[in-house]
Amino acid sequence: MMRTGREIQVRTYPVGGVSPDDFEVVEVPVPRPGPGQVLVRNTWTSVDPGLRLRLRPDAPSGYFAAFPLGRAMDGIMTVGEVVESRAAGFTPGDAVWHAQGWREYAVVDAEAEQLNGLGTLTRLDVGACEPQWYLGPLGGMGLTAYAGLHVVDALRGGETVWISAAAGAVGSLAVQIARLVGNRVVASAGTDDKVKWLRDRFGLDAFNYRAGDLEARLGDIAPDGIDVYFDSVGGTHLEAALSHLRRGGRVAMCGSISEYESGSAGTRNLFLAVSKDLTLRGFRGSSNLRLLGQMQHRMTAWLRSGELAHHETVFTGLESAPHALTEMIAGRTTGKTLVSLG
Ligand SMILES: NC(=O)c1ccc[n+]([C@@H]2O[C@H](COP(=O)([O-])OP(=O)(O)OC[C@H]3O[C@@H](n4cnc5c(N)ncnc54)[C@H](OP(=O)(O)O)[C@@H]3O)[C@@H](O)[C@H]2O)c1
Repeated sequence: MMRTGREIQVRTYPVGGVSPDDFEVVEVPVPRPGPGQVLVRNTWTSVDPGLRLRLRPDAPSGYFAAFPLGRAMDGIMTVGEVVESRAAGFTPGDAVWHAQGWREYAVVDAEAEQLNGLGTLTRLDVGACEPQWYLGPLGGMGLTAYAGLHVVDALRGGETVWISAAAGAVGSLAVQIARLVGNRVVASAGTDDKVKWLRDRFGLDAFNYRAGDLEARLGDIAPDGIDVYFDSVGGTHLEAALSHLRRGGRVAMCGSISEYESGSAGTRNLFLAVSKDLTLRGFRGSSNLRLLGQMQHRMTAWLRSGELAHHETVFTGLESAPHALTEMIAGRTTGKTLVSLG
């Protein structure tokens, strides 16, 4: 009898805020793997703000492809266990990552490049860590945090670095890495609980960007200005950074989540990049795969020594993935947002 499994499909492209009603759970047949393919039972799947950018007829130029309507959503990082293999190097029971998430089973072409190479089928060493860490500190989140600091030369330490969305998946790793390499880190988040967590758990100077004037709060906490801004938010956060960056300052442009659902209102003080000789450097974690091994090596050491902590918000069951996405965008998750598939 043919195996079946459930997958999430996009039913309609959201206008404005994304809703679980934009998706449906569909039961589909799971084919046997062909030559060079592996059948994987997915156990953890990732929930990322970038998915929102693909829930439209056309994704931003240069970004990952838009999700088609009424089909499986390809290009979402996931971790699972090999059930059946017809590809060299993979055997049943192997822990792997690949990019056919938001479904219970996936037939994966072992050689096919996915998500710029980051999501290509890869065996994971889970001897000393939980498999889902490869969706967090040892995977794309760790790489994005590490690469973002790397591309603006903020891994050498000794500077003041502001990191926004600091209680989230990328941000909570970026704040810790930036501090471990010797920077003074200023962190911001959108609730008092998150700010308390950043202060108590990591000993950071943190503030709630929703409580009062953002630019004034940043000025209070970093009166001498900042050298680096790690931007996950865009909009008024980027404007505040431009105001407070010192001459020669750098911005790691990681994302602009404040604009994903509402669109951009522009950056009103961009001329400050000229007047202060600033560098605004966009980057993608997956474009920095050459740093993956180095990042995993350093992260593993920090995780083992207890110098770096990893936090997750876990939703259970495939059907919870759309809800998890809306909760994450609304700021109601902390650390890496994941769906456990059991
Ligand atoms: N360049 C890359 O390769 C790459 C890779 C992964 C992620 N990213 C980007 O990195 C950013 C963070 O991603 P993540 O996966 O780590 O997600 P996350 O931070 O775990 O979750 C998103 C967070 O964004 C904050 N947020 C939502 N709307 C906001 C708004 N209007 N203004 C300010 N903050 C808002 C919320 O936190 P608060 O409660 O603090 O508001 C929410 O928890 C996103 O922009 C994402 O697109 C980029």
